[in-house]
Amino acid sequence: MKMTRTSSRKQQHINISLNQDVAFRTKSSGFDRWDFLHNALPELNLSDVDPSTIFLEKKIALPFIISGMTGGYAKAEQINRQLAEVCVQKNIALGVGSQRQASENGQYHRSFSVVRETAPGIPIFGNIGAAEVAHLRDPSPILRLIDLIQADGFAVHLNPLQELLQPEGDTNFYGVLNGIEFLVNSIHVPIIVKEVGAGISADVARRLIDVGVKIIDIAGAGGTSWAGIEIVRRKIGNGVVKKEVKSSNAEMFWDWGIPTVDALKSVCHLKSESPSLKVIASGGISNGIDCAKSFAMGADFAGSALPILQALARGGTKAVVRLIDQWEWELKSAMFLTGSRSLHDLQKQILCTRV
Ligand SMILES: Cc1cc2nc3c(=O)[nH]c(=O)nc-3n(C[C@H](O)[C@H](O)[C@H](O)COP(=O)(O)O)c2cc1C
Repeated sequence: MKMTRTSSRKQQHINISLNQDVAFRTKSSGFDRWDFLHNALPELNLSDVDPSTIFLEKKIALPFIISGMTGGYAKAEQINRQLAEVCVQKNIALGVGSQRQASENGQYHRSFSVVRETAPGIPIFGNIGAAEVAHLRDPSPILRLIDLIQADGFAVHLNPLQELLQPEGDTNFYGVLNGIEFLVNSIHVPIIVKEVGAGISADVARRLIDVGVKIIDIAGAGGTSWAGIEIVRRKIGNGVVKKEVKSSNAEMFWDWGIPTVDALKSVCHLKSESPSLKVIASGGISNGIDCAKSFAMGADFAGSALPILQALARGGTKAVVRLIDQWEWELKSAMFLTGSRSLHDLQKQILCTRV
């Protein structure tokens, strides 16, 4: 069977992310603007610090999520298997990349199902793009995607910037919120709504909460630039040209988006009126202290995509486990130095702006 356009696009995204610099250029995720108030009297033994939590009704040892990246082409099977192996070893959660290809045909179903085969006990969530849910009137296509990986949750990614710059992108975003509401009411697992690196504002989060969404991954700006990935892809050339967008115009959007910290703080603020809201901090999280700071800003979990993929490409599963070990140590150390025995304690800590 011939590779479909969706398969080859997913493969290009991985190759470009690994071989080109697609980071934000002039904007940071914002964690460097904040410091913890050091606690010289923590009244705690480091060995008693416990960063475990519950995600999608399953206990995980650390509040870490490997954000959805791939699936839907041959090589993705190995990547997803390896990521699932890491998640088993570290007992953390995993998202798969967009399952759009799997809804087109069964050619690469294994590139998704391999995650559940490899990791029967960890929280795993499915993924589809906004454009796919906009006019959904029947939940069965999504239920099949959930079934494929026995998902504990299902993520809808909002990616208007990416669709804008993607040569074959779909820029009709009418009806997306209705589609999300339909999913919330017709799917038996929690719906997670995420961005892909341009951030979710408080206003967007409020509209999502109003239709019943309880988990939001703010996926802010400062890490991987999706505009950057699509700009590089357009330069490499892929046979599809969207004539109305010139490359020089596209470049203007490389750094578009709400810095992770700003999105995170404003969305977490809504917890006072919506206490059941769970927030995932992601977008440029680059160490365990960033994770710790995101908790002090109100997050419940922290996600990372490209740094994980880069470690995997560098040194396989061992390198990813090493990276997560390092983040674990940094997170636990920050908890110790702020007198936080649990993540709940960490969420109450004070951050000061750096001058
Ligand atoms: C190679 C690659 C592929 C991705 N594919 C998807 C995807 O299919 N669906 C999705 O929701 N997000 C996707 N993302 C976005 C990530 O989940 C994440 O939101 C974003 O990269 C920001 O996190 P980071 O700065 O840690 O990379 C992808 C990211 C990368 C690097």
